[in-house]
Amino acid sequence: MGLSKKDILDVDSLSVDEIQTILDTADGLKEISSRPIKKVPTLRGKTVILFFHEPSTRTRMSFDIAAKRLSADSISITAGSSSMVKGETLIDTAKNIEAMTPDIIVIRHASSGAPYLLAKMLSSAIINAGDGMHAHPTQALLDMMTVREKKGRLEGLRIAIIGDIAHSRVARSNVAGFTKMGAAVCLAGPPTMLPYGVDSLGAHVTHDMDEAIEGADVIMMLRIQKERQKHFLFPTEREYAKRYGLSPERLKNAGPDVLIMHPGPLNRGVEISPQIADGPYSLILDQVANGVALRMSLLYLLGGGARHADRD
Ligand code: CP
Repeated sequence: MGLSKKDILDVDSLSVDEIQTILDTADGLKEISSRPIKKVPTLRGKTVILFFHEPSTRTRMSFDIAAKRLSADSISITAGSSSMVKGETLIDTAKNIEAMTPDIIVIRHASSGAPYLLAKMLSSAIINAGDGMHAHPTQALLDMMTVREKKGRLEGLRIAIIGDIAHSRVARSNVAGFTKMGAAVCLAGPPTMLPYGVDSLGAHVTHDMDEAIEGADVIMMLRIQKERQKHFLFPTEREYAKRYGLSPERLKNAGPDVLIMHPGPLNRGVEISPQIADGPYSLILDQVANGVALRMSLLYLLGGGARHADRD
């Protein structure tokens, strides 16, 4: 089964069946990364452009690796290395990219909505790799894949997401995804780091981190995004770590099978202590590994892999 849509722009517009198809396909493709020769010919002849206007380690590399493992040709372009530094607009740049007939364009941009604009204007498939503070659907999908792999289900789980919710596209996409799949999400953070309208997201909201942790099956810690904060939102990092950092002492309030997640990059010693990040409950590197399989799944489903498989 393939996906009927041209683009992946957010989790909100994916149905439960579509999310399940994406996660099941990722589960099936994951095994390719442990083969001696990590490559299948499925997307041979397809071209994937990685158009990143913001820095990225995990998302960009995993899309690049995913494309190569499916035998697609992948080409990276960053804002600093493109003619956008000479004043070319996003739309002109995108039209020029499309003139070279790519099949899929993966875009990360600081402006919320940039991938939607490209999806409307271009016939290539567009994948949102993070737009401003709005959405990061592929991160949420890989997070759901990782939790489902470890817990065997998503329905009925309690997910605590803690930290700088206001600036987090990861939090928004994860609330949309986990609630859609039947989990209950609790958001916790200082009042200055909860966005306007947070109550309408469909999650329980608290300022008390211990309340969020109690009984949680999964604790997802978020990075303080200093680069997006226009004002000081907390007195000192030490004060923040004391009230909202995940430490071994604090974890004692969580259940015995709790899983710890973080999308990265980490501010070690601020939102998460090194003992927790590197400890036995941490799924942080599992998330990164699953990021490759999940992005292979999206490239496969949008790039026509499923159509070829159905036909063959
Ligand atoms: N989680 C995530 O999006 O990481 P990068 O910014 O390194 O891609």
